Amino acid sequence: MSRKGIILAGGAGTRLHPLTMVTSKQLLPVYDKPMIYYPLSALMLAGISDILIITTPQDQAAFKHLLGTGRQWNVKFDYAEQPEPNGIAQAFVIAADFLRSEPSCLILGDNILYGHGLPDALHRAGARDRGATIFSYWVDDPQRYGVIEFNPNDEVLSIEEKPQNPKSNWAAIGVYFYDEEVTDLVKQLAPSARGELEITDLNVLYMRKRQLKVERLGRGFAWFDAGTHDSLLEAGEFVRVLQHRQGQLVCAPDEIAFHNGWISAAELKELAAKAGKTQYARRLLDNLR
Ligand code: DAU
Repeated sequence: MSRKGIILAGGAGTRLHPLTMVTSKQLLPVYDKPMIYYPLSALMLAGISDILIITTPQDQAAFKHLLGTGRQWNVKFDYAEQPEPNGIAQAFVIAADFLRSEPSCLILGDNILYGHGLPDALHRAGARDRGATIFSYWVDDPQRYGVIEFNPNDEVLSIEEKPQNPKSNWAAIGVYFYDEEVTDLVKQLAPSARGELEITDLNVLYMRKRQLKVERLGRGFAWFDAGTHDSLLEAGEFVRVLQHRQGQLVCAPDEIAFHNGWISAAELKELAAKAGKTQYARRLLDNLR
């Protein structure tokens, strides 16, 4: 049984207008790469190569143009449409045929994760075949997110979506691992007050079954959701600074495919050639030195 990936890259993008008037948020640049490369990299680092990309109907052609079938990285992409942004959990209604009772990992198309040990944390979550695993990160502005309350034994007491009075600073990151029951459980959800199928409500269902595991990512990790003008710029600046200092790429699917053994050195060279006379291409080739 192999875990399948879903990237949710729909949404109206209204918080980024006018940037997103004619293109999808998840195609905007985060320094030197389109935003979707970052969540895609996280799935690939988790060893996931069978991936459904959910977009708005009008933006699907552009995503297909950018990512194609996935053959260049020896992964497989399928595409599906979400006509209206009716909630993150709706991804599992849309993905039911794709998942066919396989376990899954959903990542939001605007979430950027980076840190030493991230592949291990993702693999740990992927290796659990019962229940759900979500990730949590200490933030200064928890009211913008799903907020997780823990008891002293590290068990989850509550998860609330964008609470006015957050019970902790532990935000729920937009990466969710579920077992094969998720497509049935999502049928139990009703739209929230804001008219969405809430991912938090889905996680609460797992919590009530005592099947929700939360991995806390410490301060050595970076997590951004590039959903506002400021966070988009900050994420880009983070990537620029790190790449400049280390001379290594942050979240490059070409490189991850190579390190995963999914493509050969010759194929990586071809990808670098396609990337032209860019620093991106040069840094891809550095992997072959
Ligand atoms: O980023 C983590 C947070 O993501 C979590 O802490 C929250 O619990 C979760 O609800 C979500 O909150 P956001 O306010 O960031 O959700 P937003 O509506 O902005 O959607 C996140 C991304 O998912 C965004 O890039 C658009 C996409 N999306 C969203 C919805 C509701 C879709 O593609 N379709 C949708 O129906």
